Amino acid sequence: MNPNETLLARQQAATPRGVGVMAPFFVDHAKNAELWDVTGRRFIDFAGGIAVLNTGHRHPDVIAAVSAQLELFTHSCYQVVPYESYIRLAERLNALTPGAHAKKTAFFSTGAEAVENAIKIARAATGRSGVIAFSGGFHGRTMMGMALTGKIVPYKVGFGPFPADVFHVPFPNALHHVSVADSLAAITALFKASIDPKRVAAIILEPIQGEGGFYIAPPELMRALRQLCDEHGILLIADEIQTGFARTGRWFAMDHYDVLPDLITLAKSLAGGFPLSAVVGRSEIMDAPAPGGLGGTYAGSPIAIAAAHAVLDVIEHEQLNHRANTLGIRLQALLNNLQKVIPNIAEVRGLGAMIAVEFMQNATPDIDFTKRVQAEALRRGLILLSCGVYANVLRFLFPLTISDAVFDEGLAILEAALFAAHLDS
Ligand SMILES: Cc1ncc(COP(=O)(O)O)c(C=O)c1O
Repeated sequence: MNPNETLLARQQAATPRGVGVMAPFFVDHAKNAELWDVTGRRFIDFAGGIAVLNTGHRHPDVIAAVSAQLELFTHSCYQVVPYESYIRLAERLNALTPGAHAKKTAFFSTGAEAVENAIKIARAATGRSGVIAFSGGFHGRTMMGMALTGKIVPYKVGFGPFPADVFHVPFPNALHHVSVADSLAAITALFKASIDPKRVAAIILEPIQGEGGFYIAPPELMRALRQLCDEHGILLIADEIQTGFARTGRWFAMDHYDVLPDLITLAKSLAGGFPLSAVVGRSEIMDAPAPGGLGGTYAGSPIAIAAAHAVLDVIEHEQLNHRANTLGIRLQALLNNLQKVIPNIAEVRGLGAMIAVEFMQNATPDIDFTKRVQAEALRRGLILLSCGVYANVLRFLFPLTISDAVFDEGLAILEAALFAAHLDS
């Protein structure tokens, strides 16, 4: 029996179906943008472990930093015996994130944990409980993460009730006829019917919705939200867990806007495959929770922190912001050309290398076509991820360290998969 089939049978028997798995094969080892399964078959990885590997699988500098840390200590619990690398990483993120104001950073392990803590901090700082989030937004699988997430299936089904005082408004989306004015009108309606703005602690959004479909928040939305927040004493939280660390061609997606968030959540590519997340924010806000209110046994693990220092160095030294723009332009050009001959391609969009292609047929989302392209690509050795509130979007999250040769190979497979799906239509 093929080792993948044996493992699939064991997986089915030993692990719950709720942990949904995309690939029908199991990884053996990986390097930069390539991954080999347990039979030795090679795949090109355009998924990057869901936006975690902007610096690639096992970047030699990340591995060296982690190996060095393993020789010193692996865990002391920062809240028991602290270490310098945590403080230095906080200093680096305080300086790197948008805005020259005084900032502080706290570390956690997962993206959902960063989101939970951003809300805790916002509530402690404002003394208010309300939170406004957006339809189609994704903020994690913990209770508050689910409450904030603006998509029921599959994330919220059967798991409620969720924490109270969370409200959703539509995210602007020109392709699906939702304007910035519609989003703002929904907030006005909320303030009239559901919650006094003086009870709202925070508005949270992804500058580019990740799981939701790579829809980009228009600058006028971000400006209007900042103004609303200033008017009512509400905090603006940018969830940059998927958009951060050079993916969009800047360090952070908020660098593309002319307004600043009060708090930023970070995770995924922060530590190149090691579990680390962070909340970065205005010092006075970050200091609102009393000592002991923030933290966690593994929060800010010294191993993950060592990896993160190396990741930041790699992004700088290898000029990955520039590389993201170069790769993104090439991918967009290919997809724009294919749009002329493949009518199911409704839109190609993105910032830097955070690119997506959305499929429609007769003005309705074409989920079937999306699945066919993904399957054809995988059959040919290219790992692609889908996303979108209508599940009709393919997103590209290849390592920014990918070589030109492997990138070209990936694009050729993508083109072949799109044509195969098209001919099958
Ligand atoms: C924008 C955003 N926020 C939060 C999360 C949750 O992160 P984690 O899966 O590490 O808990 C994700 C994960 O996909 C995300 O994309």
